[in-house]
Amino acid sequence: MKEIKASLVGFGVVGHGILEVIKRKQPILRDLDLDLKVVSISDHTGSIMNEAGVDADCVLKDKTLEKVATSSMKGQEAIKAVDSDLVIEVTPTNVVHGQPGLGHMEAALSSGKNLVTSNKGPLVLAFSRLRKLADDNHCQFKYEATVGGTMPLMSLIERTLVGNTIYSIEGIFNGTCNYILTRMAQENISYSHALSEAQDLGYAESDPTYDVEGIDTAGKVVILANAIFGMDAKYSDVKVTGITQVTPEALAMAKKRGYVIKLIGEVPSLTVKPMLVPIESPINVDSTLNSAAIVTDLSGTITVTGLGAGSIETASAILSDIISIYR
Ligand SMILES: NC(=O)c1ccc[n+]([C@@H]2O[C@H](COP(=O)([O-])OP(=O)(O)OC[C@H]3O[C@@H](n4cnc5c(N)ncnc54)[C@H](OP(=O)(O)O)[C@@H]3O)[C@@H](O)[C@H]2O)c1
Repeated sequence: MKEIKASLVGFGVVGHGILEVIKRKQPILRDLDLDLKVVSISDHTGSIMNEAGVDADCVLKDKTLEKVATSSMKGQEAIKAVDSDLVIEVTPTNVVHGQPGLGHMEAALSSGKNLVTSNKGPLVLAFSRLRKLADDNHCQFKYEATVGGTMPLMSLIERTLVGNTIYSIEGIFNGTCNYILTRMAQENISYSHALSEAQDLGYAESDPTYDVEGIDTAGKVVILANAIFGMDAKYSDVKVTGITQVTPEALAMAKKRGYVIKLIGEVPSLTVKPMLVPIESPINVDSTLNSAAIVTDLSGTITVTGLGAGSIETASAILSDIISIYR
């Protein structure tokens, strides 16, 4: 049985999902000969550490570690101090300076620890630096959950489609925008009406700028450009138009002609904009779903779809990355 000692950094929606999924999937992990235990969890309040594995039932009860922390160490200090093989980095994303995630990722890789993350910001800002740090330190660095949540994209391209030349990837990479555009088209309601509905349901933040202005989608386009196409793209290279100017009239006119309007990210063209998509296109998915069409030389176009967010769903992509490292 291969022992894997993991440090979980960030204990919010995704962090809780990961702990729950690792607990739930112990039988499958054992079948794969993997003894995966979380030996430390850190959030902004401190860390809980246990060499034998943190008691998930005890920790999952609370939103933060405040009541159970065994150490005031956090962030980079905890990553370096804990005896672990793997760091799972799931702190909030920031596409301007990348922190605190970027510092955590650098600390993990420079300490020779494998890294799995769902945090886009550091990859948008410093993908090639992180890749080089991983290679120099003989570490594995996986980030399936950063684009499309649970929708398999990186692993599909890197493993199943290996040998294909990838010409382009286009798709819907933001569930909040997709929900708003879907509701506007279905109910003939205004952008602001659909946005407040999305906010009431918890699909949109009180400040929705990051989603509706296309910033989140542009970040995913940069990650795909750098990870799949080997480009050295930056956020400023992406031409971005969000969905705030889309009107119910435009959606109704599109429908009459057999189209929907979706916020589409495209690589390698590095564009994000509302586009007409034929109603029968396989990337035309509704509500909070994401989708991607991968255009290849040998396999033609492969389309995938799935939930772009969610605690357990995102944790599924993280678990898959972990298993692929150690199996
Ligand atoms: N939620 C999803 O469905 C989803 C899907 C795909 C990708 N992602 C990405 O995954 C990451 C985590 O998302 P989330 O929804 O779990 O966010 P979240 O609920 O805000 O949780 C973030 C966690 O990180 C902690 N944290 C903040 N600063 C820290 C620091 N310096 N050191 C250690 N921990 C720190 C936060 O503590 P406090 O809250 O106490 O500050 C919180 O526990 C984000 O980068 C997000 O973009 C999320």
